[in-house]
Parts: sequence; structure tokens; C-alpha cells
Amino acid sequence: MRSGLSLASERMMHRLFRSRFLLLALTLSALVCTRTNALPNRAAVASAHPLASEAGVEILARGGNAFDAAVAVSAALGVVEPYGSGLGGGGFFLLHLASDDKDIMIDGREVAPAAARADMYLDENGEPLPGASRNGPLAAGIPGLPAALVHLAENYGRLPLSESLQPAIRFAEQGFPAYDWHVSRLERLASGMNDSAKSVFLPDGKVPAVGSTIYQMDLAKTLRSLVLEGHDGFYKGEVARKLLEGVQRDGGIWSEEDLASYKIIEREPLVGSYGDVTIVSAPPPSAGGVALINMFNMLSGYDIKDASTVTRVHLLVEIMRRAYRDRGQYLGDPDFIDIPLDMLLHPFYAVGQRANLRLDQATPSTSLPGVQPIQLAGGNQTSHFSILDMDGNIVAATQSINFSYGSKYMAAGTGVLLNNEMDDFSKKPGEPNGYQLLGSDANSIQPGKRMLSSMTPTILRSREGAAILGSPGGSQIITMVFLSGLSWIEGSDANEMAGQSRFHHQYFPDRIFFEDASLTGAERAALESMGHRLELNQRTVGNGNLQIVTWNRVTNAVQAASDPRGIGEPRYYEP
Ligand code: GLY
Repeated sequence: MRSGLSLASERMMHRLFRSRFLLLALTLSALVCTRTNALPNRAAVASAHPLASEAGVEILARGGNAFDAAVAVSAALGVVEPYGSGLGGGGFFLLHLASDDKDIMIDGREVAPAAARADMYLDENGEPLPGASRNGPLAAGIPGLPAALVHLAENYGRLPLSESLQPAIRFAEQGFPAYDWHVSRLERLASGMNDSAKSVFLPDGKVPAVGSTIYQMDLAKTLRSLVLEGHDGFYKGEVARKLLEGVQRDGGIWSEEDLASYKIIEREPLVGSYGDVTIVSAPPPSAGGVALINMFNMLSGYDIKDASTVTRVHLLVEIMRRAYRDRGQYLGDPDFIDIPLDMLLHPFYAVGQRANLRLDQATPSTSLPGVQPIQLAGGNQTSHFSILDMDGNIVAATQSINFSYGSKYMAAGTGVLLNNEMDDFSKKPGEPNGYQLLGSDANSIQPGKRMLSSMTPTILRSREGAAILGSPGGSQIITMVFLSGLSWIEGSDANEMAGQSRFHHQYFPDRIFFEDASLTGAERAALESMGHRLELNQRTVGNGNLQIVTWNRVTNAVQAASDPRGIGEPRYYEP
């Protein structure tokens, strides 16, 4: 039986086609002409910290383009938001090169060291060793962010690193004021840091007061080493020697060759569509683009314009459930496994996924074939920024050291907090990671392999405009980008996209995680009566931190927004 929603969808499509075809034909050529010379009326940077946004604008004002500004913002975030990302981690930089009308993704994801083994975090009984993939240098993949910054500057920027890294070096040497988010995280987590990290983040042996100045002199030296020696300034020479000395002494397995052989990979972004909107997003080893495009493909079979909140949430949740099922089953590092991308991204595949989706009832995750469950945990780290320059160049970048302060390990003399991204691998098939995400052999640990990520830097484009967006939030990143992107498509502006209340489902655990404001009591009861289990999102410090720039390509107006859940602020640049 066909659902009321699909019939409504077909009727709407026919009506739309008849009434809008002529109007569309008449306005298209005008729009195309407008676009030919259309440039943004100002540049914008949205990031998770005001100082990082200012760093981006400072570099634009010095004549840099969006890619120079991205180097500045990325490095600055590593200094002023040390719990979220930094030189000891990795990231994905989705670029749009206006002059070539081309999209590229720089994959600066961490890789497993050569001595890594599939069972390295399991005990003799094959059970996960608690904390082994999260704490200390054994939890750290080989960082990719330094290589990505050098690559960006050398291949796409206009300015030398001596200029684009200047703001980050200044924040590290001259300090930045400690703020609530940082201080409260230190109160919870600093006891797990090694002595070198404590000496930086607990000056005088205690958590600094809000407003006091945090200095990172060793980190400034490491940034200067990148300025002087480029890629080798991190992966070879003095910095590499100090990293290896610490990591090897304290139980890690990195080798000189692991650092020396690290390379970023330029990948083709994934491209999908929803109506007349083009979706450009991160390819594997991110799960983001696959899941995002697949969710929009599923959604395109329905008309949700007039749906009630309950129907809308139910439908979107069922779509999320099905996309996340595939995450565990198929996705991993594309250089190590064959991913059936053509299938997963095909609209016909979404037709199949819709076949067992009932509009009146939840589908239990256990009734869908897939990787099966156990366990708990959570996190909300990572950092995203979005940039648009006045030439129309775009950067959507998400970067991470995984959990707050990563592995909480800093090799003496480097100032670099190492990531704990090894936890993003599937350590045992069927065993969830720290974000409760299930994995299979597709994401098993292998030497030199990149761990699967949820980071979803995304660009949405239509004839009328573009939206640049992304967020931290672990497993919830992809659904945040999905909901926020959908709200842009439905007419929201950047502030509304960032501020809307959110909900999330990830196949396992079979629960809708929701923000209080997203559902009334009656709506919760109605969803429960359909078979859903609900859980209030218990994130301690905000549920995501979207950073968004939108560009109206008809008026050329640019708007930027930082998630009201965080402390970020956008900044604009107009010469
Ligand atoms: N470390 C979080 C992610 O990459 O998904």
C-alpha cells in the first residue's frame, strides 16, 4: 500500500511541474547571468572561538584568500580550544576553488602506526581493555593536521605560513584568557593528563581561574618549526624527535618512519542532490557524506512540508536509523576496503530502504539486518569552521583530536596534545566505540589505515545560494548537518539553522536522543506509542556546535552564524 505521504509527494511534484516550469524557465537565464559575475558582498568566518574567527579575518585583511584564512583559523583553534582539535590530531578540509569551479577534500585524517594490530586493544580473552584506546600515547594515530595546513598553504593559499600561522603563534606566546568551557573541562579531565600536559594546562598545579592567561610556549615553538621547515618541521627533525622520545617511553608504538611517511590525500568529495540542491560532502574515510546523501535520497520520496512534528520526527528518525545501519556495515578507509559507494549513494538504493519504512510505526533496529550491539558512553569534541571569501572560495573544515584533550598526552617540549582517534576504529566487530557506534571488519585496525570518522564538512548549493556548514558532536555530527541542511533548504537563515533544536538516532542504541525543546510532552508520548524509545540528550557542554556561512547568490548577501550552544562568534571582512 502506498502511503499518504508518497501520494501527496507525487501530486505536489505534478503541480509544481505544471505551475512552475514556465516561471523557472524565464527566471533561470536571469539567475545564471546574475551568477556569472556574482560575488559575495563580504567575506565571513564562523568558528567555535571568537579569537579563531578573528584570526581568519586578520589573514583575509592581509590579502589572504579563504585557504590562507583556513590555515589561520585551524591553527588558532588548536591553541585557544585545546580540548577540541590541534596539531596532534587531524581533519577534513572541504574546499571550493572559485576560479576552477572545483571541489576538493584534503584528507588530513590520522593513520594507524605501522606496529598497530587489529587486536591491540583486546585482552587475552579477546575483550576490550578499558581505556586502552583512549588514554595515553598508545591511543594516538599519526597526526595529519600539520601536513594538511602546510599542503593548504603551499597549494591553495597566497600567503606564506609565516603570515597565516602568525595569529596562532601570537595566541600561544602571548596567551589567551581562560574561559568557562575550557576551565570546566579541565576541572573534570585534567587529572588524567600526563605531567607535560598538566604543566601547560594546570599552571601552579591547579585549574586556572576564568580570565587568567593561558600560555603555550612549546606549542608556539612547534608552530614556528612549521613556518621554518614546512611539513618536515613536524614530521622530521627536532619536533619529531621529541614526539617519538615521549611516545615510545610512555607506551606508544610510533616509529620514525610512521611520522616521516605521513601524507595527506586529496580526495574527490561526494556529490548528491535533493530537489535542486547539490550536496557536496566528505567522502570516506568520513562516513558523513555517504550517510548525508543517503538520508536526503531517502527523504526525497516524501513530502514533509505539511507533516505534523510527530510525523516529521518519526520519518527523519527512521531515515537516520537506516543510514547509520550502513555506516557500521560498509564504511572504513577506502584505500583498504571496497566500499559499494555507487550502491549506497544511488537513489534506487534509497527506494529499497524506504520499502520497509512504516509511517505509523517505528522499525526496531534489531529487525534490520546489520552489525549487532552492546554498551554506552559519549562525547562532544572536535571543531568545525566555515569560510567564504570575496572571490567565492569556500572552506568547510572539521578537525579533531577526538575526545576532550584527546589522549591527554603531550610529549615533553612539543606543546602538542596527541589525539585518541584510534578509538574511532572498530576494536572488535560488533563492539561500539566511545560514541556507541558499531563497526565491522570494514573499520578494523590495520597499519597505515585511516579510522572511520563522522566529521561532515558540507557545502550545499542551489541556483539561489550556498550554505557552508559542519559541527563537532561525535556520532551526532551527521544528523546535525542533515537537520540543519534541511532547514536551510526549507528557507531558514544561518541563525535559525544553528539554533534549531535537534534530535538524533544512530541505529544502535535504538533510541531517539532529543533536546528538551525539540518535542513537547504530547509529541514524546505520540512517538512512544509508535514504538520509539526516547532519551533526553545528556550532553554536558552543549549538543553540537554548528558553524555556518550562507551566501544568497541572487542578492550576494552573506550571513554567518555560530551555534548558540557554544561560545563561537562569526566575523565578517569587507575591505
Ligand atoms: N573523532 C570523531 C570523528 O572523527 O568522528
